[in-house]
Order: sequence, then C-alpha cells, then structure tokens
Amino acid sequence: ALMAGVAFAALGTAASAQTVGFSQIGSESGWRAAETTVTQQEAEARGIDLRFSDAQQRQENQIAAIRSFVAQGVDAIFVAPVVATGWDSVLEEAAEAEIPVILLDRMVDSDPSLYLTAVGSDLVHEGEVAGQWLVDEVGGEECRVVELQGTTGSSPAIDRATGFRNAIEGADNIEIVRSQTGDFTRSGGKEVMESFLQAEGGGADICALYAHNDDMALGAIQAINEAGLNPGEDILIVSIDAVPDIFLAMSEGDANATVELTPNMAGPAFDALEAYMADGTMPEKFIQTDSQLYTPEDDPMGEYERRKDLGY
Ligand code: AHR
Repeated sequence: ALMAGVAFAALGTAASAQTVGFSQIGSESGWRAAETTVTQQEAEARGIDLRFSDAQQRQENQIAAIRSFVAQGVDAIFVAPVVATGWDSVLEEAAEAEIPVILLDRMVDSDPSLYLTAVGSDLVHEGEVAGQWLVDEVGGEECRVVELQGTTGSSPAIDRATGFRNAIEGADNIEIVRSQTGDFTRSGGKEVMESFLQAEGGGADICALYAHNDDMALGAIQAINEAGLNPGEDILIVSIDAVPDIFLAMSEGDANATVELTPNMAGPAFDALEAYMADGTMPEKFIQTDSQLYTPEDDPMGEYERRKDLGY
C-alpha cells in the first residue's frame, strides 16, 4: 500500500503553490456557483494560477480532470467530490505523483492518508439542526414530512438524511412520509414536490418539507404556490445552505428556516496548503466550517444583502 502521508510530508520544503487544479462538480445550485466564485477570488488574491474544470455532475469527468492535473504537474489539487465512493485509484495516482489533494465541502470514503485535508461542515450536524428546528416548531402536533434529498450517493445527501432522522427520533408525532432525490437542483425540487403534492391529498396531508438544499426548497415553494397552497404556512419549509434567494423567500413568509453552509471552503484550503508547502506543517484531517441556523427573526433582508455579492 502506498504511504501517501509519508510522501506528502516529504514534500513540505520552503515552497509555495503556483498552480492548483480545481475539479468542481458543476453548477447545480446557487451555493455551488458561489463556491466556484469564492475559490477563483481566493486564488487570484493569493497570486495562484487556478486551473478550473467543471465536471457537469459526472464522476468520470472529475477522475479525468484529476488525471489531467497530475499530468500537468500542478502543485496541488482541490476536489469537490460529487459522490462519496470510487476515488481510491485516482487519489493513489495523485499521491504517487506527490501532489497533495484537498477535498472541498463533500467527503469521500477513501483512506484519509490519500488526501492532505478536507474542508467542510459537519453534514450530519446540519441535518440535526434542521430536524431539531422542526421538532421545536411543531411542538407535539402531528407532522407528516416530505424530504427532498440531494444527489444520490453524495456525502451531504447521506449525512443530512441521517442527521435529520437523529433529531426526530424521539418525536413520535413527526414522520417522514415521502423521500426522493431532487439532485440539489431547483427544477428537481419543483418536479419532485409536484409529485409529493399529488400523492399527499393535493398537499393537504403534508405538514413540512425538509430539503437538503435551498435550491430544491425554492423549486418546491414554486410547486406549492402553483398548487394553491401557502408555502411557509400550510407547509413549513426547512432547508440548508443560506443562499440569498432563500432569505428573500423568508422575508416574504415562504420559507421558515435554513442552516448556513459557507461557500468559502477555498480560504481555509489555501491556508492549509500554504503552511504545508512552506515548512511541511500537516493540517488537521478535517477543517470544519460553521453551521448556523437562520429563521425569519434573523433579519432575512439584511442576510440577503450581506450575501448577494458573493457570486451566488
Ligand atoms: O456539497 C454541498 C452541497 O452541494 C450544497 O449544500 C448544495 O447546494 C450543493 O449542490
């Protein structure tokens, strides 16, 4: 087996990163677009040549991009992995070439020695925060929940599902009655919500929607409006990301809660890379970003203004 950690440690010799390859998933959500923008801004501010590759949601495109970055001899590779499995071989290839890899926002199930560090939030905790919000909001009332899951096989879809279930475990009044992927997109959220509404008495039997990201919630809000119901009132809406548009929806009473995921994964990633390349400082294996809950009491228009220039 390859001693990737050892190979990495030997690399840290008074150097700095000049070129970094970034394999991005795509542009499925407002959050993803912001992460791309922030990564480009962070690279520019540090004088780093960022080679960007958009995988259009396909793991094979990401694998090809990483191989191409290895062939180009970049100093480091950032990857936002679309799904959690299937990365061992390509990560081993990067390690053999002694090119450090940093994961952004999503996790892989490979051996941690195959990457330098991962920057992201506690994805299970995000689901727990969302679930706890609902438990507190409905009190003891019966509540039938529909769930829009993220991309199947992605770490946020797996972990946000788990976290939400952890939070509602002790609440017998809350039940997840339908769950399907909307692929983290607005159109996916709308389409799947339409089928949930149809299957659940036109929506009359649904108390709340839990969406694994804001974009799917925003698509679902449209579907609920078109069905003649009142999103945020007839159906409570809780989701994750804290993109500007969810704050607009909140200010109009259409959404009830969101859990923030910062789009700035690259800042901590570049900091860790710089320290590592300067003198071999090994970062923590997981650099955790915050997960804060926002509700309509938190000045949604102010939050919207604060974010709208971030590239969302
Ligand atoms: O991996 C993070 C998730 O990916 C975001 O929550 C979602 O919007 C994006 O598509």
